[in-house]
Parts: sequence; structure tokens; C-alpha cells
Amino acid sequence: MSFPAPIALRWLAPAMALGLALLPSCFTNKQHQGERLYVQHCSGCHGEQGEGLGRLIPPLAGSDYLAQHRDQLACIVRQGLRGPIVVNGVSYNQVMLGVQDTVTHRHLSPAQITNLLNYIEGHWGNHPGPAGSRTIAGTETELRACGER
Ligand code: HEC
Repeated sequence: MSFPAPIALRWLAPAMALGLALLPSCFTNKQHQGERLYVQHCSGCHGEQGEGLGRLIPPLAGSDYLAQHRDQLACIVRQGLRGPIVVNGVSYNQVMLGVQDTVTHRHLSPAQITNLLNYIEGHWGNHPGPAGSRTIAGTETELRACGER
């Protein structure tokens, strides 16, 4: 009777293939999460490359506003933004809903916001702040400053 071995092998091969497939994603997961969250929560308005939409939606790519309001970005993600702003010399006076206001964008965690903002600040001609990549602790400090957990 030799069927225990083949049965074990039948499971072993897919399990190993799965393990190999998952291995690289462990290393790039943070970057991928940031990109995924951007596509899910932001690109519909700000565009796939952060280019914005005419005078309705300001760009995130190369945005001077983004660079000048680094320590408020976590709060903008959570609470949205409204009222007059100037981005790269263009005036906007619109409403960006906070992700918590919409049905599908509820409550991104500090870790998710950190990965999302690191993705935005690492792409499209943007640069991380002088302190380098964001940390979860830094995001939590920002969120406390605007009354968010
Ligand atoms: C429903 C459309 C919409 C979505 C979704 C959206 N935004 Fe916005 N965003 C806007 C609008 C409109 C403004 C301008 C608000 C104003 O005029 O005060 C803005 C402004 C901004 C600004 C400041 C101006 C700039 O361009 O630098 C940042 C930063 C920003 N959004 C980031 C994000 C991020 C990150 C996400 C995803 C979590 C996101 N937005 C999702 C519409 C949106």
C-alpha cells in the first residue's frame, strides 16, 4: 500500500508553489499597500499619476502644497479638505471628502496612512521630507494634533 506518499506529494507541490509566490510579497508589501490604497482611495479624483483634473481637482504630482503641508497630510486623508487653497499657482475652492465620510473609504489605520503617504511622497517628482520616510509613530502624532486617534 503506497498511497500515503503520493497524497502527501499532491498537497506538497501546490503548498510550495504558494509559498514561493508569497515570498517576494513579504518584502515589497508596504510599497504595494501604499500603491493599492492610492488606487482605491485617491486616484479616482487625483488621477493615476497624481495629475489632478483641471481646475476641479488639484494635482498631487509635484504639488507645492503637498510639500509645504507635510505634517497635515495624515489629517487631510482622514478629515478631507475644503475651502480655498493654491496649488502650484492655481486656485482651488472645492471639497475633498474625508475618507471617513464615504461609504467605502472608512477609517484607514495609521499604518495604512503611513504607507499611502510614503507612496505619494516617493512618486511623480515628489520627495520625502527632510526626516525621510514616514513612520507609523509620526503619523499617529500628526493625527493626534487634529483630534484623530
Ligand atoms: C472625491 C474626490 C477626491 C478624493 C477621492 C480625494 N481627493 Fe484629495 N482633494 C480633492 C479636492 C477637490 C481637493 C481640493 C480641496 C480644496 O479646494 O480645498 C483635494 C485636495 C487634496 C490635497 C491638497 C492639495 C494638493 O493637491 O496637494 C491633498 C494632499 C490631497 N487632496 C490628498 C488626497 C489623498 C491622499 C487622497 C486619498 C486618500 C485623496 N486626496 C482623495 C478631491 C479628492
